[in-house]
Amino acid sequence: MSDGRVINFGAGPSALPASVLEEAAKGLLNFNGTGIGIAEISHRSKEFTAFLAEVESLIRSQLDVPETHSILFTQGGGSAQFSAVVLNLLARHHLLNPDLPERDLDYVVTGSWSKKAAEEARRLGGGRVNVVVDARASSKDGRTFDSIPAHASYSFTSPNPALIYYCENETVDGVEFSNDASSPASFPFHLLPQNTPLLPLVGDYSSSFMSRPIPRLADHAIIYAGAQKNIGPAGLTILIVRKDCLVDVDAAAKLGAAPVPLTMAYKTLADNSSVYNTPAVLPIYISGLVLRRSAEQGGVQYYEALNKRKADKLYAAIKEGEARGVFRAKVKEGSGSLMNVVFDVVGDGAEAKFISGAEALGMKAIKGHRSVGGIRVSLYNAVTEEQTDVIVAFMKSFLAQ
Ligand SMILES: Cc1ncc(COP(=O)(O)O)c(C=O)c1O
Repeated sequence: MSDGRVINFGAGPSALPASVLEEAAKGLLNFNGTGIGIAEISHRSKEFTAFLAEVESLIRSQLDVPETHSILFTQGGGSAQFSAVVLNLLARHHLLNPDLPERDLDYVVTGSWSKKAAEEARRLGGGRVNVVVDARASSKDGRTFDSIPAHASYSFTSPNPALIYYCENETVDGVEFSNDASSPASFPFHLLPQNTPLLPLVGDYSSSFMSRPIPRLADHAIIYAGAQKNIGPAGLTILIVRKDCLVDVDAAAKLGAAPVPLTMAYKTLADNSSVYNTPAVLPIYISGLVLRRSAEQGGVQYYEALNKRKADKLYAAIKEGEARGVFRAKVKEGSGSLMNVVFDVVGDGAEAKFISGAEALGMKAIKGHRSVGGIRVSLYNAVTEEQTDVIVAFMKSFLAQ
């Protein structure tokens, strides 16, 4: 059934396991023996409700999500969350601090996506956007996002921010926080304001969700991820929300906070078990099948080891190419993403030759994001080590030419 498939190194939507797609094809015709396809069944049917509860528990158990946090499902992708996190956390801040003249929204900017999220916060108003650090300031050319900044360059100056925002993995720029607390490229949790145990810390995990454990998960207010990288089709967004962030947005509006559309209010989603309105039934189904498979394989610990092996092989090949003047890493050592590996092929016409050579061997979607160019090889969970070996072998043969 899966004949004719190529190796898909796309950044998202991206590769899904063929075995899951084959199972999903059966579910499209007949979901769980109901005689009704998954795209046709009511989201309030007992069969789908049970499936949704299973998806939640697969995420809770694999990521070790504590009972202090709700797991919610919504639509709108990461981009809708750029707005939703601001609106919900400003509402919370109004309820906690009704009389403040000014509210701070702190953004850690390490790449194109966190930059975009900060721009949306500025556009929405309702708070002063502080850039805690902009990684471009410490880059090679002062213009690109090529590393995770040193801890000393962060300045969390607000004692009581409404929101503190970061993006774990910058999909476009190929920069990712290390999950090793002793690494200089780790997120500086120790620098966050220490006066409150309930920090409004928000992490965009869109392109690293389920690829490895999430460091200090319990210390986050909100973690969110679009499904379309590691776990499923576009259309589903997963939220992990600490329960003190499920606030009455209408009560906050009476205190001067901006009104929050009900479909974006986390409390609405939680109060209605993520079926306030029709959820993305088919993407939830496929994501659930992927999550079942990942639990069987050993969960995020299994994927962390696998993803590290895959990325190490690719970075080693880039290094070899750099020594020969053929490849150029775009990201400083130690800051490179395990999910999106980016590099340049040096020389006139060399990049096009590299891409067409890879395509001829059945490797697709390796062109870098249009804003930064170069090559981007995405190594999400569904990309196997054997498939990674194919591109590494191709890189080596390219060097040999
Ligand atoms: C890290 C990150 N955040 C946010 C987004 C935006 O997601 P969406 O296209 O689902 O709105 C993306 C998309 O690729 C992403 O990679």
